[in-house]
Formats: sequence, C-alpha cells, structure tokens
Amino acid sequence: MNPFHKKPQFAPRCHIKRKENIIPQAIISVSDLTRTITNGAHSVEILKGINFDVPAGQFVAIMGASGSGKSTLLGLLAGLDSPTTGRVILDGEDITGLAEDKLAVIRGRKIGFVFQSYQLIPTLTALENVLLPAELTGLSQGATARALELLERVGLTSRQGHYPVQLSGGEQQRVALARAFMVQPPILLADEPTGNLDSANGSHILELLIDLNRRERTTLVLVTHDAELARHADRRIVLKDGLVISDDDLALAERMETSAQPASHVR
Ligand SMILES: Nc1ncnc2c1ncn2[C@@H]1O[C@H](COP(=O)(O)OP(=O)(O)OP(=O)(O)O)[C@@H](O)[C@H]1O
Ligand SMILES: [Mg+2]
Repeated sequence: MNPFHKKPQFAPRCHIKRKENIIPQAIISVSDLTRTITNGAHSVEILKGINFDVPAGQFVAIMGASGSGKSTLLGLLAGLDSPTTGRVILDGEDITGLAEDKLAVIRGRKIGFVFQSYQLIPTLTALENVLLPAELTGLSQGATARALELLERVGLTSRQGHYPVQLSGGEQQRVALARAFMVQPPILLADEPTGNLDSANGSHILELLIDLNRRERTTLVLVTHDAELARHADRRIVLKDGLVISDDDLALAERMETSAQPASHVR
C-alpha cells in the first residue's frame, strides 16, 4: 500500500510543529482526494487518494510525469472540478460540493488561476484580459493602473492593445499570469507558468512569483517540469499515477516525528 494513501498521523490538520515555529493553519487542506472519470463502461482513476496541507505563504511545486494527474489536482484545488471522493478545504471553507455560484465567489476572493492552456478571452485585448478579474469582483479603483503595472512587470507594455491571436504562446502565458495577479489573491494556482517561456523570460517570471510570495505572502501552488523553478520552492510534491510518491514537507515532519520518539532501549 502506498504510504501516502491515508493521511499520516504525524501531520495534524491545522498545526504542524517545526522546530520552534508553529506553522499557521493550512490555507489549503486536501484529504483522501480521488477523481475517477467514467465514459460509458470505461473508468479512469486519475487521482487515487491525495492528502496534504499547505500552510499560508508556502511555495509548493507539484511535479510528476505527463499524465500523472497534476492538472486534474490543480483543477480540484480551485473548485473548477469536483472530486469523486474526499475534500478540499480552502482557508477553513470546505468547497467540496458547493454550488457553482458560491464557488465562483470563493474563487474570485481567494484564487488566482493560470491554466496550462492560458484561456484568455479572444475578444478582449491583453489589457482587458488582465482587467477582467477586477471587473468581475467589482474592484474598479486603481484597476487600470495596476493592470498596466502588471503588464509592464511581465514585459508586455507594448502589447497591451493586442488580442490573444496576435500574441505568441509565451506572451499569452505572461498575460495569463498578469491576469492571475490582478486582484492580489491569497492563493495562486498555476499550471506550468514557465512552460512556454525562453530562459530569460522564465527567470523573470520566476522572480515575479518569488516576489509575490515574499512581499504579498501569496501561497503559491505551481505545477512545473522546470527544475530551476522547483529548486526555489519551499516544498516539492511529486505525483505518479495519481498518487503522491514524495513530499519533502511530509518527509521533514516524518523525520521530526522519528527524532522526537524516545528510544525504546533507553531507560
Ligand atoms: N476528461 C478526461 N477523460 C478521461 N481521461 C482524462 C480526462 N482528463 C484527464 N484524463 C487523464 O487523466 C490523466 C491525468 O491527466 P492530467 O491532465 O491531470 O495530467 P498532467 O499530470 O497534468 O499531465 P501533463 O504534464 O501532460 O500536463 C491522463 O492520463 C489523462 O489522459
Ligand atoms: Mg497538465
């Protein structure tokens, strides 16, 4: 049996003691998450029981081979898809089974999402795409100035009036990132945010993400194949065939648990 299949006893739900620090309550908590897709008589078990807690402000890289379930997991964390079994708790709110209108409110307040396929609105310019989350949440004050600043930070000032079809894949990816930063979400979920960028633009986006994580204490959960990006994360969770096969945060907790156990032969 996979050791990560059940939530380990050494990882209490809300507080994990690490040396002298108490990590704050988990902003994302995932328990026994499964996702099975059934097409007629055929079922595919995409996620087979995922458990982890992410403390607020942590930078997590989700890694694993193509088809291991990373995008499916990210979609569940954002409430864009529903799990077959298990729960997703965001900032203390259980989003499992919530109606779409309630989910949309939580998403608008708490989550910035960057899709693997960007999903820009084709009929809106780069600037209008970046402004969209502010319009949807009714934040108009200073919105244009922030959107222009974000476009500058991703190096696209000169492309602000262009439509997605007039932008390269990497440029669309950078617009999608600027859009995700627009309403300063406490949680940013991004699927391969540097996947289509050359190394100079990739490093620039990495700096932007790290800056967001440090300055605005944004919790980052990034799906990535980029070793450089993963190296900068606080924690790497690796999926294989729908299961977590390694999680260096759990490994740390496990080591602490072991070192805290009194040795049985010592009296
Ligand atoms: N709607 C669906 N119907 C059937 N199978 C699906 C569906 N969506 C995803 N899958 C399958 O689930 C598995 C996991 O898909 P997912 O997109 O989560 O992988 P991934 O780890 O993000 O891969 P990549 O690195 O290529 O983006 C794949 O084998 C995929 O074919
Ligand atoms: Mg994917």
